[in-house]
Amino acid sequence: MPITNSTVHRLAIFASGAGSNAQQIINYFKGSKHVTIALIVCNKPNAGVVNIAAKKNIPLLMIEKENFFRGNAYLNELRIHKISFVVLAGFLWKIPELLVNAFPNKIVNIHPALLPKYGGKGMYGHFVHESVLANHETESGITIHFVNENFDEGNHIFQATCPVLIDDTPDTLADRIHLLEHKHFPEVIGQVLLNTKD
Ligand code: GRF
Repeated sequence: MPITNSTVHRLAIFASGAGSNAQQIINYFKGSKHVTIALIVCNKPNAGVVNIAAKKNIPLLMIEKENFFRGNAYLNELRIHKISFVVLAGFLWKIPELLVNAFPNKIVNIHPALLPKYGGKGMYGHFVHESVLANHETESGITIHFVNENFDEGNHIFQATCPVLIDDTPDTLADRIHLLEHKHFPEVIGQVLLNTKD
């Protein structure tokens, strides 16, 4: 892939849903000399991303709340896997300050709306799309941003838009947003990595 600096980035993908974004990212960086998907981190044993990790032979770290929020946020495990960069792809827990500080400007998230609108605690998945439709927006989209200690508030890296159609349901809008995510997220991660030193 078009990463040309000499750093080798070892990515952890945090995901707890179907994992379609994780899958796209894995495919995009397959065979890259500069980017390795070194770990999948998940908090839901039955999430689709668990099967993706198994199929692709990527180590899986299952995490639980107590350790994540009151322990060391699995920092030791991330260090053991030599993780240098974290991608949140459908991960719903807030990232503890400990991790934010350990990975300064090295954690990115994707949000299925045009932040700062439709972000914050509880604004995920269909809740986002339902609110967009309830407000009769004519446009929605995606935001890729750095992660800080507040939900959906880190600096924006990239946004892309799509129309909201008059007969959209939360599901049809979600499908359109997913396509946009799959198209842009891997490439934007690649761009950010170009400007990231370990
Ligand atoms: C995506 O829509 C993403 O924006 C949000 O969670 C969803 C994850 O979907 N943060 P998937 O698990 O990657 O299919």
